[in-house]
Amino acid sequence: MTQVWHTVADWLDRRRALTGRSIGFVPTMGALHRGHASLVQRCRGESEIVVVTIFVNPSQFNDPKDLERYPRTLENDLALLESLGADEVIVPTAPELYPNGYGFRVEPDSRTQVMEGAYRPGFLPGVMTVVLKLLSIVRPDRAYFGEKDYQQLKVVTDMVQEFFIPTKIIPCPTVREESGLAASSRNMLLSPEAKENAAWLFRALTMAANPAETRAILDAQGFVVEYVEERWGRRLAAAYLEGVRLIDNVPVMEIKRL
Ligand code: PAF
Repeated sequence: MTQVWHTVADWLDRRRALTGRSIGFVPTMGALHRGHASLVQRCRGESEIVVVTIFVNPSQFNDPKDLERYPRTLENDLALLESLGADEVIVPTAPELYPNGYGFRVEPDSRTQVMEGAYRPGFLPGVMTVVLKLLSIVRPDRAYFGEKDYQQLKVVTDMVQEFFIPTKIIPCPTVREESGLAASSRNMLLSPEAKENAAWLFRALTMAANPAETRAILDAQGFVVEYVEERWGRRLAAAYLEGVRLIDNVPVMEIKRL
């Protein structure tokens, strides 16, 4: 039976009772989909206790409209987590996690000022700050992050190493629909036609010979492209469709050269 915690104090009481157990952790912002389910399943298979957080973190949104329209589906999320066998779900409020406002934050260095770091000012500090807070209250042995948010995964992995946090960050492969579209909470915001078109993001990443060609395919399909870059052996892109920001990436090795 899944237990739900709304305050940090109640959760910390519970956490004390779990001392000595192997703890796996999946941080989320809710609006759960098959991608999250795969993280929870992997965590379930590798941990005695599965902890999930659901928190739409205001500090990582640089656009207040984006924060406002971020999908919130708590009842469905809790039902899904129960069916997946999650043990503990923490659903804190912003004042619980930020009791003194956004007073202290983790600032990544200038090397992160590319891609998400360049196009979403405040996003990476917001993610790092909330992940540090969550790791501090959950104190998990392992934390599971999807490869879809590849730069986030890299920055969190580096932060954990830099601050000697005793949690292993486990990267998990992107879950895709049959069309190739990466599972994302933001897909819920697309019209059915745009959702079909959105699969071009994956196609353009995997089929084009280079980033410039990826960009040209996306332009032709009506995307408003922010970036297409190759780093860390991946080709990564961010682009808008119907005003919804989508990101994806693929290993360069797997790109089908035409
Ligand atoms: O990837 C997400 O859902 C969020 O960025 C995270 C890691 C839960 C932090 O708010």
